[in-house]
Amino acid sequence: MNDPGGLPTTLAGFEAAYRQALEAGPLAYYSGAAADELTLGENRAAWDRIKLSPRVMIDVSERDPSVEILGRRHSLPLAIAPTAYHRIAHPGGEEETATGAAAADVTYTLSTLATSRPAPVAEAAPDSDRWFQVYVFRDRAVTMDLVAEAEENGFEALMLTVDLPVLGKRDREIEDEFVVGDAGTVPGIQAAGGKGLLSMQDTADLIDPSLTWDDVAELSSGTDLPVLVKGVLRADDAKLAIEHGAAGVVVSNHGGRQLDTVPATAEVLEPIAEAVGDGPTVLVDGGVRRGTDLAKALILGADAALVGRPVLWGLATAGAAGVEAVIGIVEDEFDRALALLGVPRAAALKGQTDLLFDRK
Ligand code: FNR
Ligand code: LAC
Repeated sequence: MNDPGGLPTTLAGFEAAYRQALEAGPLAYYSGAAADELTLGENRAAWDRIKLSPRVMIDVSERDPSVEILGRRHSLPLAIAPTAYHRIAHPGGEEETATGAAAADVTYTLSTLATSRPAPVAEAAPDSDRWFQVYVFRDRAVTMDLVAEAEENGFEALMLTVDLPVLGKRDREIEDEFVVGDAGTVPGIQAAGGKGLLSMQDTADLIDPSLTWDDVAELSSGTDLPVLVKGVLRADDAKLAIEHGAAGVVVSNHGGRQLDTVPATAEVLEPIAEAVGDGPTVLVDGGVRRGTDLAKALILGADAALVGRPVLWGLATAGAAGVEAVIGIVEDEFDRALALLGVPRAAALKGQTDLLFDRK
């Protein structure tokens, strides 16, 4: 089913269209995960296992899907997760993604491993709300240059990814001998010393595996931007992140692409949100595909959720318009979920676990 503009009307439709648009190598990279891809499957299944318990006879004629994230109003409890190498999906690359994000009025997180840099992305989409995702390269000066460029170009937060000290076992990419591209097409990689055609393993080898919580403190104290720590799956680590200066955490298993057989993010979100309490920002990603998943994430204690792969589906299918349409589908479903749950204000969902059926 396509809309009058010829675009799919479901995320599944965008995934089908993306599979037609890309060749085997990019599909292996974008869709793949680590090892037996058990966590990849669990990320989705865990959201499906959560059942909602709606209230009726509530006036839901007026609904407000907006929430506060990092002290600022956002139209939706949704942001775009950082994903690498967008020019593999579309010649317009991250500039195209940011343009679609701005049109959909959601925050876009630019990856350190983007086929662009913070300044041109900001220039291409000046109205976009932007965060910058940080991988710390072995050559830290390269990382600090990118962070400074993000700070100088209106990026509003840093997202430090901590679950990739080494690359997960990406069997699909290895079997396909997938090459992410020439180092020259990825400014961060080129600056960090990458040369020629690189595999994802070559890229990951440029990232510093020696980070500790002290590095979170150093990054947090060295910037005026709030720092989110992405890739946390334990309550004790989440508390350490906040103790070392982070403004919040992203509960994430990297879309199942790092350590296989870790729990789904939907399974660990609630205890982590409880552990850090109300002050810090708690985001979650992994298998978020429906507006009801957004509602479940807030009910379990998140301030918002991130989507990764669906944005690539939209980008590969129709560039900025595809990105905008994917977000629009989730936005429409979330609006319906607010009405059908009997909770007209998204901000009232956070922590309301009595809206979940069969709570143990
Ligand atoms: C990612 N992810 C990721 N994370 C990050 O911090 N920096 C990055 O550069 C990337 N790159 C990347 C590429 C691709 C192709 C994928 C699929 C994922 C992880 C991403 O931010 C996010 O955690 C997951 O993708 C969320 O799960 P879903 O929504 O893709 O199921
Ligand atoms: C990945 C890295 C780039 O998941 O985060 O491929």
